[in-house]
Amino acid sequence: MTAPRLRILTAFALLLAGTAAHAQDTIKVGEIASLTGKEATFGQSSHKGTLLAIEHLNAAGGVLGKRFELVTEDNQSKAGESATAARKLLSRDKAVALLGEVASSRSLEIAPVAQAAKIPMVSPASTNPKVTETGNYIFRVCFIDPFQGTVMAKFALKRGWKKVATLTSVSSAYSVGLGKFFKETYTAGGGTIPAEQKYAEGDKDFHAQLTAIKSAGADAVFVPGYYNEAALISKQARELGLTVPLFGGDGWESSSLLDIGGAAVDGIFFSTHYSPDDAAPVVQNFVKAYKARWGGETPDAMAALGYDSALVLADALKRAGTTDAAKLRDALAATKDFPGVTGKTSIDAQRNATKAAAIFTVKNSKFVFVESIAP
Ligand code: PHE
Repeated sequence: MTAPRLRILTAFALLLAGTAAHAQDTIKVGEIASLTGKEATFGQSSHKGTLLAIEHLNAAGGVLGKRFELVTEDNQSKAGESATAARKLLSRDKAVALLGEVASSRSLEIAPVAQAAKIPMVSPASTNPKVTETGNYIFRVCFIDPFQGTVMAKFALKRGWKKVATLTSVSSAYSVGLGKFFKETYTAGGGTIPAEQKYAEGDKDFHAQLTAIKSAGADAVFVPGYYNEAALISKQARELGLTVPLFGGDGWESSSLLDIGGAAVDGIFFSTHYSPDDAAPVVQNFVKAYKARWGGETPDAMAALGYDSALVLADALKRAGTTDAAKLRDALAATKDFPGVTGKTSIDAQRNATKAAAIFTVKNSKFVFVESIAP
């Protein structure tokens, strides 16, 4: 009895040792992205940027003597999928950190899982303040919506828009937050809001809301939403003869905005995180490498932030000198002036970054840079 049993135990121990040795071969980084579904361009872009960074890091020898392995889970842009994906990446893959998500509502699903497991999470692009408020293991490499809302409120006031109606998605944490922050600065600056209309993610018909906005007599309409709805809203506004400018935040940035919106999105404005036309060498080198890697595609803000999120994580691992989660957390929190594509990343006491915003318009179905607003 004893001998076979011992053999089995030995075999098991060897197997375990083998697994452990294998687990140490690479540094696994988990990524959660909307690769398919409603906001697929968000996930596709952030993933392509993140993967490019991982490839660059590996080509330069990795960190701590190991190569990175990016393990990506697609949440299909659906609510309720991201927490499951996060759990899988932590328990199955033993990821040392999680990168993601772009959309704030989905980052808000991942953050409590990462926080409970005490594994660092770095969101590339979620701008709602609540994401990092979840706990001390949750970070982001982008600015937050109190800043973005202020930028767009000042932009509206500067343009002389005295009455700006709002159209907000009630089922998106991002939309609700950005709408609120916009309103605070805009009304404090003397603007009035003649109509506050609502929609929900996935809605396709906005005629009722736009008719109400039209009769309220707005000078412009602020739509803090994502590109699908923003494009349809732009089209339906024009159909209804509502010709005042429409504007939004980073959620408008997608090549699909131009595809779906067509001529109706000409003249819109939105704020985002970077411009691919920025002459800075760090930006131009990134744009060149991204185009070469991804079939000539110009990287958008999510691609740039995805790239930066992986680099910031790698820099923290280097400084931590270990993959130990608590030490890695401390190193991330100590990030100071890390030079990236979207500017210098310094992590503040709330685990957020402070960066400039870029404002774009659309002319002849092309994104055109308007101005950069310093924090
Ligand atoms: N900031 C958006 C959010 O928090 C996501 C986003 C980032 C969209 C960058 C486009 C570009 O939900």
